Amino acid sequence: MARIIGGLTTSHVPSIGKAIAQKQQQDPYWKPFFDAFHPVHDWLAREKPDVAVVIYNDHGLNNFLDKMPTFAIGAAHEYHNADEGWGIPVQKPFKGDAKLSWHIIENLVADEFDITMCQEVLVDHAFTLPMALMYPGGQDWPVRTVPVMMNSVQHPLPNPRRCYKLGQAIGKAIESYPEDIKVVLLGTGGLSHQLDGERAGFINKPFDLWCMDKMLNDPEALARLSNHEIVEKAGSQGVELMTWIAMRGAMQGRVTQISSTYHVPISNTGGAVMLLENHPVPRAIAAE
Ligand code: DHB
Ligand code: FE
Repeated sequence: MARIIGGLTTSHVPSIGKAIAQKQQQDPYWKPFFDAFHPVHDWLAREKPDVAVVIYNDHGLNNFLDKMPTFAIGAAHEYHNADEGWGIPVQKPFKGDAKLSWHIIENLVADEFDITMCQEVLVDHAFTLPMALMYPGGQDWPVRTVPVMMNSVQHPLPNPRRCYKLGQAIGKAIESYPEDIKVVLLGTGGLSHQLDGERAGFINKPFDLWCMDKMLNDPEALARLSNHEIVEKAGSQGVELMTWIAMRGAMQGRVTQISSTYHVPISNTGGAVMLLENHPVPRAIAAE
């Protein structure tokens, strides 16, 4: 059976792409953020996942304001990146796992999530940069991927409770997949940031640290937030927290922390990286 071995959450600002291209990983501005990935690299080298299920928010490269699915899942054999206008290099194509995608889609629809199924997806910086941070060096991507997109752009947005439940349904679907594969989850976005308006540049470190604590110890507390509360406390783009909440919902077992780093700012954003491990809970205990 498929196994969810862990989950990585990370901020995804486009300037990470520029920092990688210009080899600025050791610059004092970037070093604490890039260093946060050393334990991630060690863990990936040890655990060798087969597939990454990447939960992220498309920013308009794939879904635009004319048609905006609340939740959408890619079901292709390959995914391409394209120029989004940030001036960062376009990443090489990513392998898909269409069979696993369809399994997740079928289970989600059976579970009353009416998601949009996509046989072509252009993946944006929220997908590509976390992958480049996980697997630096430009080698072939060592994992197949499943993109899961959430609407963080056009109101009305899905609420945190719904995102948490979506994650739970994704986790259940993955763990019912009959092939013996190891799956790593990604939740990319956040933490606090606001890119426009009167509060542009707003970052709320205490709230971000509270979220990181709840990610490990009490994800229900995140699911109880409202989107208004998140916008108030984390800025209008802070709603990208939804990707973290969904990712955490998908972790079905006992969850422990491998690493956690917070470094501000990266670009306009509270820069946060967390790696959580998922330990299977025996069925008899899980049922109690
Ligand atoms: C920035 C952050 C984002 O989440 C994003 O999608 C684009 C830009 C930033 O902080 O610059
Ligand atoms: Fe973003």
